[in-house]
Amino acid sequence: CIDISSLYKSTGHFTFDPGFAATASTKSAITYIDGDKGVLLYRGYPIEQLAENSSFLEVAYLLLNGELPSEGEFKTFEHHVTHHSMMHESQKHFFRGFHHDAHPMAMLCSAIASLSAFYHDDLDIEDPEQRKMAAIRLIAKMPTIAAACYRYSIGWPFRYPRNNLEYCDRFLHQMFEVPSEPLEMNPVAAKALDLLFILHADHEQNASTSTVRLVGSTGANPYASVAAGIAALWGPAHGGANEAVLKMLEEIGTPDNVESAVKRAKDKNDSFRLMGFGHRVYKNFDPRAKIIRKTCHEVLDALGVSDPLLDVAMKLEEAALKDEYFVERKLYPNVDFYSGIIYKALGIPTEMFTVMFAIARTAGWISHWIEHHETPGSRIGRPRQVYTGATPRDYVAMGKR
Ligand code: ACO
Repeated sequence: CIDISSLYKSTGHFTFDPGFAATASTKSAITYIDGDKGVLLYRGYPIEQLAENSSFLEVAYLLLNGELPSEGEFKTFEHHVTHHSMMHESQKHFFRGFHHDAHPMAMLCSAIASLSAFYHDDLDIEDPEQRKMAAIRLIAKMPTIAAACYRYSIGWPFRYPRNNLEYCDRFLHQMFEVPSEPLEMNPVAAKALDLLFILHADHEQNASTSTVRLVGSTGANPYASVAAGIAALWGPAHGGANEAVLKMLEEIGTPDNVESAVKRAKDKNDSFRLMGFGHRVYKNFDPRAKIIRKTCHEVLDALGVSDPLLDVAMKLEEAALKDEYFVERKLYPNVDFYSGIIYKALGIPTEMFTVMFAIARTAGWISHWIEHHETPGSRIGRPRQVYTGATPRDYVAMGKR
């Protein structure tokens, strides 16, 4: 890595790097990726070990604070997250302004931005205590607001969070519990969700995290910054891929149609791509995809779900991994290839998949927002451009054009 930060000051030159493929926008101590070896570490801990032994809330604490919590530290953190999980009563009115068929990501993005209108006292971003409080509020309220987006879209009343339940259990109850009917939950469901949240919690300077840091660098408040991250996540080239994968698998329909899908994906005159394949940084197996692939089989077995789309997915993976086009370009399944099949088995509707991603990534986004503010000398993000427009010319009156 070459530090060229003083290049412009000393020579007036700057570099051209479309898509920031070769540009580090920041230093960060949160997450490490080795894309060639397929390595992912949160604060130095391998993702495989965290997936096996940790919980999403513990990982959120780790990302925020840099160290794993002691038992006491974890209990305090869990207590705060639990007790800030309510949505402000007035926010329910805010939801009523949405059309019933609004996409849940549209509602989530606006509802999270609106938190800045509810929690003005958090807006002193220079105060480390208030920054931490904003982080707790966001991690705590995100599942409640996400569940409200879903319930609003199907016309169900909102559910208050049940504080006697753990994070993922609480969310599943808020999503699916019907008044006067206790929800019978299979513990496998909450555990599977917790694992997916761990795997999606952070991924260094991806498009949405870079967006949060860029917006945050202007001094914008944490809720507005995270809302911007949600908007960036929504696109099908980023977090929207999990929804797109499931739609693609449904479209392919049966393993017999896999070959023609692979053929289409290679055709440069066709805009069709294999969703859930390829990654800007991983040029090897995405380590998260390896874990999810294994979990997918276990979860479906434990829940007694048989999904023909899993057969389509496995055949597609097998066909792509043998195909010269995908091999040459190092296009492997990414984190989103199998996650949709697990979400579907948990009863989560397709339009909510990217919302699930956003719940988990909130831990990473807000950790990066805090890191930016804690780093001495952090500056506003302001990329340059290479101008390709007209040379100077004189204004022509409308009647003479
Ligand atoms: N299917 C078919 N071809 C692909 C795919 C794909 N999924 N992904 C990349 N390619 C091809 C490109 O056409 C290009 O081919 P070329 O060299 O002949 O022009 C080459 O592979 C390199 O692709 P780029 O688009 O330049 O790679 P980039 O790093 O810019 O994009 C991205 C990465 C956006 C993830 C891309 O692979 C893609 O669109 N994948 C599908 C969407 C997806 O799964 N997104 C989720 C990413 S993970 C996440 O955000 C959580």
